[in-house]
Amino acid sequence: MTKPGPSQLANSEERVTRRRIINNDRYLWIGRARPEDLPWTHKNAVKFASGREALVALLGGIGLGPGDIVLLPAFVPEGVIAPCRVKGLDIHFYSLDRNLDPDWSHLEELATALQPRLAVLIHYFGIRREAGRFVAICHRNGALVVEDLAHAQKLPESSLGADGDFVLHSLTKIVGVADGAVLEMAAAHLLPLKPRPYCDPRRAICIVMNMARLLVTSASRRFGSPAFWSRFWNIFGRFFYSYPILMWYFKRPTPMSGLSKALLARFPWRDAVVKRLRHERRYRADLDGTVFGHLGGVAETGHCTMGYAVVVEQREALFDTLAAQGIYGIWFEYKWDHFPADVVHDDARWVMKHHFLFPTAYALSDEEVKEVIRVANEWAIKQKAGHVAFVTRFHRKPARTARSESMNTGRDRM
Ligand SMILES: Cc1ncc(COP(=O)(O)O)c(C=O)c1O
Repeated sequence: MTKPGPSQLANSEERVTRRRIINNDRYLWIGRARPEDLPWTHKNAVKFASGREALVALLGGIGLGPGDIVLLPAFVPEGVIAPCRVKGLDIHFYSLDRNLDPDWSHLEELATALQPRLAVLIHYFGIRREAGRFVAICHRNGALVVEDLAHAQKLPESSLGADGDFVLHSLTKIVGVADGAVLEMAAAHLLPLKPRPYCDPRRAICIVMNMARLLVTSASRRFGSPAFWSRFWNIFGRFFYSYPILMWYFKRPTPMSGLSKALLARFPWRDAVVKRLRHERRYRADLDGTVFGHLGGVAETGHCTMGYAVVVEQREALFDTLAAQGIYGIWFEYKWDHFPADVVHDDARWVMKHHFLFPTAYALSDEEVKEVIRVANEWAIKQKAGHVAFVTRFHRKPARTARSESMNTGRDRM
């Protein structure tokens, strides 16, 4: 997920003294699990190999085809937009504000004018959005709604995902599995979706690569120094990168592998959510609020996020400082820049450039999270010496769309 660059490597060799790397990679975890803790157990749910395959199946299931109109948010991953493109849909983007909430008047305008068949709401970074309001606008205009929970890990008692007609979970982002996604369907929209297993070497390669990656990241919790693992990922990282292979075959939906089902059945889901929530609370309370703008910021109890999201100026400098201490955060930028060439959604682009996710993970101890906060706050103090208070700029009034400039970015963190 995170690939340290050479500059971080040099720094980390000089300075890291801690024995373990700190990141939010997933690990192999064989524990005591309770199937009833999984949020979809009592729902109408189908397991797929990936979220994008689930979306391909869903679009087919509701009969969407070339020219049908779909509304997507302005900041959208390839995993969501590619299935719509594969089906030849007419894609329109609604704007977002600097908190990544929909620009409600723009959404209403588009929905009224276009009468889309489907709209997607992403709970970015696992932070709850106003799904009830979103669904009301879309339903009034005849659109079904997918609530995308790919970045959230929720417990069955959580109300997150209760409003949409369909709910998408992508497991590889939150648990140590080789593949997997779940699509929940509301009772009024039961579709006979049946992902079919078929023999494709690309799928086998993808699973082997992901398992190898899990084995390596799990080993990195126990053996080797952060400097060693930095060097390891620098040299071998590309051999564990299964994304292009997945993009090659996702058009034909397949079921989640038996291996991942077995791993999921042994993952202590509830304990993980509880622990990650504890990490989130600590970040919220202790990170320097004048340098780090908290995205979301509402204390949840029923679901956690995939990492603690902030917006920050000089994100690369923060990354380098943390990486020099064997600590890795992530952001989403590469493969998330799908705005049409002639339109820029200013605020979505701004968040794309400034968000940063601090690690929260079942594998991390409370002490490790305190250590991350300590290093981040020390960096923040130095930043403050040289900058006007950043957070005041974060809250400025959002602008909507404007004329274009190139959206290509470069650094790959996910
Ligand atoms: C918000 C969101 N939804 C859906 C997907 C697609 O899920 P998957 O990677 O399981 O295909 C992604 C992947 O990046 C995502 O970030």
